[in-house]
This record gives sequence, structure tokens and C-alpha cells, in this order.
Amino acid sequence: MSEQSFAALYAARFGEPLSEALDGPVEQGVANILRRRTVRQLESTPIAAPLMSQLLACAQSAPTKSDLQQYSIVVIENSTTRATIAEWIGTMAFIVESGAFLVFCGDIRRNRKLAEVHGHPHVNDNLDSFFNATVDGALAMQSFILAAAAAGLATVPVSYIRNYAARVADLLKLPQGVFPIAGLALGYPKWQGKVSMRLPPQVVVHRECYDDTGLQAAVQAYGDRRHAREPIVPAKQRHTQRYGALDKCVWSEQVTRQLSVPERPDFRAFIKAQGFSLK
Ligand SMILES: Cc1cc2nc3c(=O)[nH]c(=O)nc-3n(C[C@H](O)[C@H](O)[C@H](O)COP(=O)(O)O)c2cc1C
Repeated sequence: MSEQSFAALYAARFGEPLSEALDGPVEQGVANILRRRTVRQLESTPIAAPLMSQLLACAQSAPTKSDLQQYSIVVIENSTTRATIAEWIGTMAFIVESGAFLVFCGDIRRNRKLAEVHGHPHVNDNLDSFFNATVDGALAMQSFILAAAAAGLATVPVSYIRNYAARVADLLKLPQGVFPIAGLALGYPKWQGKVSMRLPPQVVVHRECYDDTGLQAAVQAYGDRRHAREPIVPAKQRHTQRYGALDKCVWSEQVTRQLSVPERPDFRAFIKAQGFSLK
């Protein structure tokens, strides 16, 4: 099995063998995507301006809903600004210990301003606009992530900045109509990281129509495979004070523990304060 065979890459991603009929050679660009991983130990080496410019151009090469381009990217190289955000969060040193930190934002301000310039009403401040802006920003972030990986850089998306959304908006001077979707730490990796095992395609990919028959058994087997490869150690188990620490804490236990506690209940109020009606 060559390293570039789909079977090897598939087994790393899903922890189970690929059916022989689906194996074959994989193009380099596709292999890079199959191997992508988040690496949280990054060098502080600054990113050369020409490379950063390429990565940002890749971000802007993502598709965008109706060509509306409703997102903005704030590039933060200033270490004081990064240290301030890292300090609020408390557990993510890579925000400072990295080459750069970016904040991908949804942005309906720009087109609102342009509507004024053209003398047109802007009547699309609704939940769909908020959703479109979020999807645009997320796609741009993913294009950036994949381009960075292709260039030998690593990234860490950081939705945790939304726990401090109002403070981040203030610090970065995000005006009305602009909100943070996620941060992204960028840097040369200190180690290669590990491929994180995903749910089996049979659970995520539905053929012709939605069908989740067999979900529980498939997820249980997935939990077992993940535990065998990389157990979730007690220190990383969620909400141990409420649920205790387990010798075997499977993926579905971990995610359902997380979802049993409200996260960012005031985010809606923040978004409304940023000038979105969400109606
Ligand atoms: C929108 C988004 C937000 C995330 N936020 C954080 C975060 O705040 N902190 C963190 O360490 N990782 C964060 N991650 C990274 C995920 O934890 C990671 O993608 C996941 O565990 C799967 O690992 P992999 O990216 O190596 O495949 C985030 C990922 C996404 C897509």
C-alpha cells in the first residue's frame, strides 16, 4: 500500500479499511485535504508578506453567496492585541505563539454602505443575511486553511473568541454589521500533528434521501475505534464534575456531555447589538 493510495489515507481518516473496489491513486492536492489536521503547537516565526498575501487571495477565492462577498478578515500580527485575546481565553497560548492570528468576520456593513452610495434601500437585514455572511466567512476561512496546509503551515480555528464576542468586537473595532465568526492561528507547525478520526461516511453521507437507520451501532463502533487509537484521557473529558471521569469516554459521550451545558447563551444579544435584526 503506497502512502499516496486512497486506502492508506482513508484508514487514517476513518480508522477502518476502504473497500478494495474504491482504492486507487490520489492526486497530491486531494491527499493534502485528506491529511489535514489542526496543530496547536506553532512556531512564532512571522509569515512572510508574499506568502500571507497568497493565502489571503486563496481565502477570497472561495465561492460566495450571490457574489455578495459578505465577510471581512482581520489579520492580527500585533503581539499585544493577540496577548489580550489569549489572556481572556486563558488556555490557548497558540494565539500569541504563532506567526499570525486572523479573525474571519461576517460583514453586511460593506453592502449597506454601498446601497447608500447607489441610493438603493438595503432591506435584507434578516436571519438569511446573517446566515449567508457566516457561510461566506466560513468558506473563506476553509480556503485559507487548505492553502496554508498546502504551503506547509498549520492552523487552529478558534470559535472560543465568541465567548468574548463583545470584547473582541471592541478590541478590533468591528463596526455595526460586522461580527466575528472564528479566529485562526497560523504558523509553522512544531510537529506534524495527528489525523483526527471522523464518523464513518455511512453516517454522514446519505444516498438519494436522508436515512439514519443503524446510527447508534455505527457510532458505537466508531467510538470504540477512536478509543482504541486515541483514548480521551480524563483531563480532556468534558464536565467531569457533573459526569465523572471515565476509563473509556467515547466520542458520543464527550460530545453529548458538551451539548448538555449551554454555550454562549448571550451570542444572539451580541449579534443584535452589532446591528443585525435576525428577523
Ligand atoms: C468553527 C471551528 C471552531 C473551532 N474552535 C476551536 C477552538 O476554539 N479551540 C481549539 O483548540 N480548536 C478549535 N477548533 C478545532 C477543532 O477542535 C478541530 O477541528 C476538531 O477537533 C477536529 O480536529 P482536526 O481539525 O485536527 O481534524 C475549531 C474548529 C472549527 C471548524
